[in-house]
Parts: sequence; C-alpha cells; structure tokens
Amino acid sequence: MMKKIIKTTLLVALVALIVMQFIQPDKNQGGYESVAAFENETKPSEALAALLKSNCYDCHSNQTEYPWYSKIAPVSYWLDDHVKDGKKHFNVSEWENYSVKKKDHKLEELIEEVEEGEMPLDSYTWIHGDITEEQRELLIQWAVLVRMSYKADLEVSSK
Ligand code: HEC
Repeated sequence: MMKKIIKTTLLVALVALIVMQFIQPDKNQGGYESVAAFENETKPSEALAALLKSNCYDCHSNQTEYPWYSKIAPVSYWLDDHVKDGKKHFNVSEWENYSVKKKDHKLEELIEEVEEGEMPLDSYTWIHGDITEEQRELLIQWAVLVRMSYKADLEVSSK
C-alpha cells in the first residue's frame, strides 16, 4: 500500500516535471542597443561597461545572456523571476524614462548594494563568480561622479 503511494507520487512528480519543460517563460532579449542611452549619459569607461555587461545587465537591462541550463524548468522559472524583479527595481534600458531624481536615487541604491556586497545576487555569483574589491571600487567611484552631475541638474531646475 505505502509502496504504491510512493510510486504514484513519484510518477506524478515526474510527469509534472516533464510538462513544465514545455512551458517556457518569455525570454528577455531586447538587445544591447537598449542600453546605449544609459551608457551615453553615464559614460562608464570601457572596462566598467564590460563589467556592467557581464555582471549586471543580465538582470538589469532588456537583454539577458541565458546559460544552457536556463532552459531547464524549474531553473527557467527561477531565473525569469530574478530578471523580472531586477528589472522592476533598476532597468538601464528604461533609463531615458526615469526622472533625474529617480536616476540619482537608483545610483544611490547602487552604491549601497555594491558596498554591502549585495549585488550581484549571491545566486548569480555562485555560478558566474563574484566581482573583485577593485571592481566594486570602480563601480562606486563612477556612480558617485554620475550622481554629482544629476545633483547639479536638480539644483539648477529647482532655482
Ligand atoms: C541574478 C540577477 C541580478 C544580477 C546579476 C544583479 N542584480 Fe541587482 N537586483 C536584482 C534583484 C532581484 C533586485 C531586487 C531585489 C533586491 O534588492 O535584492 C536587485 C536590486 C538592485 C538594485 C536596487 C534598486 C532599488 O531600487 O532598490 C540595484 C541598484 C542593483 N540591483 C544593482 C546591481 C548591479 C550594479 C549589479 C552588478 C554589479 C547587479 N545589480 C546584478 C537582481 C540582480
């Protein structure tokens, strides 16, 4: 009796797992052109742009580089969740549509997240590796500078 229940449960789980493979979340592949406006405005150095592309844009732009295992459910759902959540909070492809105040605030958050080692997400660094201390510094220095120009803009517009 017990054996039969276990067998049936396993079978149902297996079928569910197979069915899940056919339900793929929509891919986030709007292309890297969508980040051009952000980079023109915030002017990261070449090294920093490369760093952002390989460590942040997967979850914070309209273009994700999907690893092979991203096709396997439930990993696919889990990745999709991170991308959606990441973009909701901070999406460089939407930079043009953010107000100066919002841009400034997002960079403030960025400095905080990077300083505290919260970004990139742990689940990402397990596989992709973490960024170095030096790279964190680079990111923070750049964000501080860009914020200064937004602050100046905000001051001018409030006069
Ligand atoms: C695997 C996906 C993923 C990667 C890679 C990633 N992030 Fe995030 N990021 C998220 C998620 C999800 C959130 C929202 C939840 C949270 O704050 O933990 C977030 C939040 C943020 C926020 C906060 C925005 C706000 O309004 O609070 C900033 C800023 C940020 N990330 C910057 C970065 C930077 C910079 C990198 C690269 C060094 C990076 N992230 C890499 C998924 C990611």
